[in-house]
Amino acid sequence: MSVSNGERAPPKAQPSAPSYADLRRRVLLFASLFCVFVLLVAFAGFGVLRQSAIQAAEKRSRSYSTILSAHLDRTMNALESRLTQIGVQSDRLGGPGGNDARWLPVLQAARSGANTVVSLSVIDRDGVIRHSTLTPLVGRERREGTIYQSLDASTSPEILTETPSPSEFHDGMIMPFARRLISNGRVVGAVVAAFSAESLRDFYGSIDAEGGQIRLLHESGVSLLEEPRVVGQRISVDRVLESYRAGKASGGFIGLLGDGPVMITSYAAVRDTGLIVVTSLSEQQALSAWRQEVLIGGFILVGVLIAFGLAVALMLRQLEARAVAETALLQQQQRFADAQRLESLGQLTGGVAHDFNNLLTVIINASDSLLSRVSEDLRPRVDAILYAADNAANLIKQLLAFSRRQALQLVAVDVNATVAAMDEMLRRSLGVRVETEFVLAPNLWRAHADRAQVESALLNLGINARDAMPDGGKLTIETHNAHLDDHYAALNPDVAPGDYVALAVTDTGFGMTPDVRERALEPFFTTKEVGKGSGLGLSMVYGFARQSKGHVKIYSEVGRGTTVRLYLPRDLAGVEALPAADSGALETGTESILLVEDDAQVRMLATASLRERGYTVIEATNGAEAISVLDGGEHIDLVLTDVVMPGALTGREVADHALTARPGVKVLFTSGYADASVMRNGLIAAGARFLSKPYRGGQLAATVRALLDA
Ligand SMILES: Nc1ncnc2c1ncn2[C@@H]1O[C@H](COP(=O)(O)OP(=O)(O)OP(=O)(O)O)[C@@H](O)[C@H]1O
Ligand SMILES: [Mg+2]
Repeated sequence: MSVSNGERAPPKAQPSAPSYADLRRRVLLFASLFCVFVLLVAFAGFGVLRQSAIQAAEKRSRSYSTILSAHLDRTMNALESRLTQIGVQSDRLGGPGGNDARWLPVLQAARSGANTVVSLSVIDRDGVIRHSTLTPLVGRERREGTIYQSLDASTSPEILTETPSPSEFHDGMIMPFARRLISNGRVVGAVVAAFSAESLRDFYGSIDAEGGQIRLLHESGVSLLEEPRVVGQRISVDRVLESYRAGKASGGFIGLLGDGPVMITSYAAVRDTGLIVVTSLSEQQALSAWRQEVLIGGFILVGVLIAFGLAVALMLRQLEARAVAETALLQQQQRFADAQRLESLGQLTGGVAHDFNNLLTVIINASDSLLSRVSEDLRPRVDAILYAADNAANLIKQLLAFSRRQALQLVAVDVNATVAAMDEMLRRSLGVRVETEFVLAPNLWRAHADRAQVESALLNLGINARDAMPDGGKLTIETHNAHLDDHYAALNPDVAPGDYVALAVTDTGFGMTPDVRERALEPFFTTKEVGKGSGLGLSMVYGFARQSKGHVKIYSEVGRGTTVRLYLPRDLAGVEALPAADSGALETGTESILLVEDDAQVRMLATASLRERGYTVIEATNGAEAISVLDGGEHIDLVLTDVVMPGALTGREVADHALTARPGVKVLFTSGYADASVMRNGLIAAGARFLSKPYRGGQLAATVRALLDA
């Protein structure tokens, strides 16, 4: 009996994960763009600041050169006017050849107050020094120098100069300046002033060269003064000379001077003297303030970016948490809906199966008693009726299992032992191509379950696994203790948190698609060909698990395999198992039996088959009637009662009353299903015997006999 899986499950709402990923991507993109933008702005800002720092340094450098050259220009003018004054007095003093005693006071007077001039001397027409404020010079010849040589040149300027040279008597360099002495229109000699660059050092030193250097340079390339004397590396002035010689009286540039550091240089030449003032400021120093700004700005920037990053991360976390919560809620709703769907299916099938069961009981019992009465040629037909009814009863049993209404004998089950005992049977049903492995946990708790149902569940799962591995594979049967926590219970609405014994059956087969997995537990859902599967295997496992207050979980991946995990509650009480019915018992008897059954046909048939076998039967149609019989005086050896009956009293209550009113009386329960509430009340735990419907007359008689003889 198979039903095709043509109808599809309704489309399910997908978790909102994709939209979160999308949002996350957008937020990250925006955040990165924002960071890049901020960095670009910051870099541009730093660049502008740097540029203006350099420009300010250039301006300072230029103004230093201008100021210093103007100062030098004034100094030279003063010097020139002193030389002119001396020239004017020359004739009165008798020219270069005049009396030294008269010359000297004039020269000394001219020198006093001019500390830039270290000596004033007079040379004659032959280049010999005749008078000097520096006595050791008197008598020396100065014929080598350019001053003497250009005395007669008509094109040379009024003031004659010479290339500076180190001073014999002082520190530093000396640069001679001279003016011709003319008498009667003839050049008779010259007055020479020795200009000392050293005298400017204090003044130049008072200017902050910012890690650079101020220099006084002669156009010949000779350096007169360097202040400060030493700066890390020697600063080259080649570019200054090059530019000066190209005719530029002033200028500036930034760059490496020689192989030294980068300098911000400017220069200004002093008119007519061949002197150039050069100011080189260190770029490094000029940028030190800027560098500090960058450092502080950088710190602030990094701080701001980190704070921004953290804010974004926090926001993403919150978004993610919300998305996860939403997904979890959706999943939970989904599972809840699944559980409810199975629940209502169970109620429907359970109701139908229950009524069917009573009908089948009638059919089976009636056919059974017909069997011994009809003529030989009719027997095969009655047999056929019985065969079909038996099959129907089996089917109903499976449906009852799914709808959690089968009679369960809940005992403490050693699942490991149960699994081990099934080893041989499993191997036989799985075939040689399937390798089996057992991973049984030591110290496994005992499960509170029905042993026969555990066996049937294992067999069902094993056969499903075999069918999923047509080309062979591996089947693993695993047991372990499991604690299902609140979180798990929240996600799986059909299970309570607590301790469970887990039995997992794993195969390496073709697995299930999500659609199949969703519907696998439904009764009559099968993907197998017509005639191969009824679609009741997993439904039974599910119903059994749920009825035992356990849980079933399916993990499956297409192409990889499937694990079905059955969770059975841990047995805490340690209830004893009942011994199996004694099959060799006699079926007849003379004892009197109180039969409590609400269904008239079932009652009639049961009464008939018991009376046939010699028993005395007292009938009661509900609990109240049964109680009044029990309170009466009739002898009763056994009470056979239905579990669930209309009216206020249940079979359990009838049994309890019987046990108190008639101590030693035997009680046999019968039912098409064990209602969940009856199970909770400990029907089986009381140690009572139970016969499930539909039963055949023979079965009833055998059970009654066995119980009476026990
Ligand atoms: N181990 C497994 N691997 C892959 N698919 C499975 C597995 N177990 C069950 N299924 C799928 O679930 C469906 C329902 O399984 P279920 O045991 O309830 O019914 P069935 O095996 O088809 O029939 P029956 O067990 O009644 O003979 C199967 O038809 C199959 O598609
Ligand atoms: Mg199956």
